[in-house]
Amino acid sequence: MSVIAVVGGQWGDEGKGKIIDFLAEKAKVVVRFSGGDNAGHTVINPYGEFKLHLVPSGIFYPQVTCIISNGVVINPAVLLTELDELQSHGVDTSHLIISERAHLIMPYHTLLDGLEEERRGKGALGTTRRGIGPAFVDKVARVGIRVGDLLNKDIFLKQLSSILELKNAILTKVYQHAPLPLEEIFEQYCHYGEELAPFIKRTSSIIDRAMAREEPILLEGAQGTLLDPDFGTYPYVTSSSPLAGGGSIGAGIGPMAFGRVVGVFKAYITRVGSGPMPTELQDKVGELIREKAHEYGATTGRPRRCGWFDAVAGRFSVQVNGLSDIVLTHLDIYDKFPSIKMCTAYKFGNKILDFFPSSTAILEKCQPIYEELPGWQVSTSEICDFDQLPLEAHRYIGRLEKLLSCPVSCITTGPRRKQLIEVRPILSG
Ligand code: IMO
Ligand code: MG
Repeated sequence: MSVIAVVGGQWGDEGKGKIIDFLAEKAKVVVRFSGGDNAGHTVINPYGEFKLHLVPSGIFYPQVTCIISNGVVINPAVLLTELDELQSHGVDTSHLIISERAHLIMPYHTLLDGLEEERRGKGALGTTRRGIGPAFVDKVARVGIRVGDLLNKDIFLKQLSSILELKNAILTKVYQHAPLPLEEIFEQYCHYGEELAPFIKRTSSIIDRAMAREEPILLEGAQGTLLDPDFGTYPYVTSSSPLAGGGSIGAGIGPMAFGRVVGVFKAYITRVGSGPMPTELQDKVGELIREKAHEYGATTGRPRRCGWFDAVAGRFSVQVNGLSDIVLTHLDIYDKFPSIKMCTAYKFGNKILDFFPSSTAILEKCQPIYEELPGWQVSTSEICDFDQLPLEAHRYIGRLEKLLSCPVSCITTGPRRKQLIEVRPILSG
């Protein structure tokens, strides 16, 4: 079973890009299977520092076929800029493949994302305003335009004319906004189609072939479990499934092929955008984490909300993904902390909850119940061997494993490729 799914265990930004960059060395295929350019995957390697929004983080290895699959929504302008940026740093991008089934983000999607947020006022979701929600809405409403459609201009023009009529009615009548010009969008997207044509292929055959040869395939998750439309903090969620199950549909791989399901978690927790976050620290400790870890959004630059590790949410994440392994990132951020807290349950009124409630209204009122563990107060950023970690760090990791009922297989202690401790290999070979 050669497929390994790597998914976000929290509210996104867990360090998935760094882990994929590390694992991809031994892989043959890396697939981005959900979301769109709302994702921001930071990778620091010998080529430089990159914030990848659409291109899979395996792109730095020429032997790895990188696929943007059917489950992703693609803004072609963002993708082309990203490819230019990579090429200007000497990165070969010829091994990128785009699924003809992936849906396109159109100018009305980004525009409507912003207008809808403004209409919500104080109840805004805090989206990335990249048009992700409106694009997935259109996919399900069967009025989406797919990458493959760009390759047939007659079909594309017919689709766009009919859809734009509807979108312009919404823009002018609901939002009192100027209509968008058909011809300009048509020409712009035909041009994108020509630029992207060499990358557009039937990705299912490529995946099939790799599976038949039992070549390692990595599924690169975007966002995080708690942003899942079904299991996350609805309605403060994204619009496609970041779960391992989402990887099965988003890449077109049956669940029986999954060998490992790896959940990436920060040693603390962050959230960007609105919605409940029981362990949020709106104090000096929260600020300290933000500044030490530079917790500012890779996509929008917004300061991330920071808090203690939430083991209730973590346990839920293990369950709904069926995690086999945990990757614990940013452990070094705690290096100077005299003590560290971890949330083990919630207090709701006079009840103790040991599960992650489905209702946002309840979650907003949940008070975290903490366990306090001693800090290690030495630098871990140069440690490469698990046994060399201080006793207190072992204790923290052990407690987390116990609370989540899942083993920690890898730990990161800094942003560089080498700042990583493999406890047990996720991908051998
Ligand atoms: P990566 O892949 C963190 C959040 C947004 C907002 C909510 C809905 O880097 O982990 P959307 O634009 O998706 O409609 O916004 O989801 N969000 C993310 N937060 N990391 C991400 O991706 C995110 N992608 C979306 O901030 O709260
Ligand atoms: Mg990110």
